[in-house]
Amino acid sequence: MDDRAGTPPTLFDWEFASDPYPAYGWLREHAPVYRTTVPSGVEAWLVTRYAEAREALADGRLSKNPVHHAESPGARGKTGIPGERSADLMTHLLNIDPPDHTRLRRLVSKAFTPRRVAEFEPRVRELADRFVDGMLRDGTGQADLIHEFAFPLPIYAICDLLGVPAEDQDDFRDWAGMMMRHVKPGQGGGPRGGVARAVKRIRTYLVELIERKRATLGEESAADDLISGLIRASDHGEHLTGNEAAAMCFVLLFAGFETTVNLIGNGMHTLFRHPAQRAALQQALARGDHALLDPAVEELLRYDGPVEMATWRYATRPLTIGGRPIAAGDPVLVVLAAADRDPARFDAPGTVDLARRDNPHLGYGHGIHYCLGAPLARLEARTAFATLLTRLPDLRLAADPAELRWRGGLIMRGLRTLPVAFTPGTAPAAQGK
Ligand code: HEM
Repeated sequence: MDDRAGTPPTLFDWEFASDPYPAYGWLREHAPVYRTTVPSGVEAWLVTRYAEAREALADGRLSKNPVHHAESPGARGKTGIPGERSADLMTHLLNIDPPDHTRLRRLVSKAFTPRRVAEFEPRVRELADRFVDGMLRDGTGQADLIHEFAFPLPIYAICDLLGVPAEDQDDFRDWAGMMMRHVKPGQGGGPRGGVARAVKRIRTYLVELIERKRATLGEESAADDLISGLIRASDHGEHLTGNEAAAMCFVLLFAGFETTVNLIGNGMHTLFRHPAQRAALQQALARGDHALLDPAVEELLRYDGPVEMATWRYATRPLTIGGRPIAAGDPVLVVLAAADRDPARFDAPGTVDLARRDNPHLGYGHGIHYCLGAPLARLEARTAFATLLTRLPDLRLAADPAELRWRGGLIMRGLRTLPVAFTPGTAPAAQGK
């Protein structure tokens, strides 16, 4: 911390959850590599400047494997994804290092291809239209955009992509709801009953589904879904084991669900708070001009993205980050939200500019753990914003912005609810592209 610093800001309380950016601005300036205790009791280093954040994300001396955590007393089990330890789903991409990571990532990349995602576009559009239809059918002109649109869209999309049969998808919606439980500031991070139960049910279901698909793989009627693709994929004659395939499906679900809910929620919230920017995008879309859509999605990710901090990393040996010595075993949290507003990297970082060109944000991470689902996330976000802005042109926030409540988790940033109003019955036909 530098000498002019004064008192460090309070982290992880309600005020911080609503708007962490002033605190991150202070840390970036005065204590860019800052040791603190997170709500679960773990002591960790927060890295907040862009240059050091990018470097740390690609630093092979920082492991993703929790075995390298020199656990602080009483902190056992309180890093990582809540509930997963009890459910034997540890061996997934976000918890492993090379060479295992390299092998598993290569295998999944053979099945989860950009082409598979591109072919999925009509289905995502259909889903987005279906949830807007539901909001309109209700007739009140009011809705919670999180509950009725942002939440179901990615869960049904990933179910379809994986090949979860339609009749089981409502169960997944329930389990996902249990996982996205309400965490209050000061409580985030630890495994809790509902989450652990949901993880267990998802695991049991996935293991059975994978076995069923494996049994019918040779048949002509075998499905061409992502799970079947994962079972078929081989690398030098090696296939995924049943447990590896279940853990892979779990991480696709876990990493791809709440993130997308919050990209849609945070993104619409940003658009509501920046009406001129929103109007420019909306007018372009109304003319059938989609050129602004892709840069807009990237800017919404940079400005208030869903992944506030990258997942846990642990120093495997003594090292320095930004001149600060980090001991072997220390946990490191790279604060993407802080890095993406670093004035040393971005012009006017606190300004929303949907047409921003120079935007190498870290919202999808960096290095070997760079988001595997980024093409799908981009597709879903593009479709969600375009559908909402064209079909509900007068969509507006129906709450005092100061009253909105944010979830208090450490890694994810998102709204609990986003009350909106719109004129029912004015929606033009489903958007085309
Ligand atoms: C807006 C949506 C999304 C955002 C902002 C996002 C962000 C991220 C970030 C920051 C990481 C790196 C974490 C780290 O290094 O600690 C990551 C990794 C990952 N993401 Fe995403 N993600 C999104 C959507 C998705 C989707 C839709 C999927 C798949 C269905 C997905 C699958 C994954 C996987 C499997 C990893 C781990 C990759 C690895 O360790 O090699 N993500 N994501």
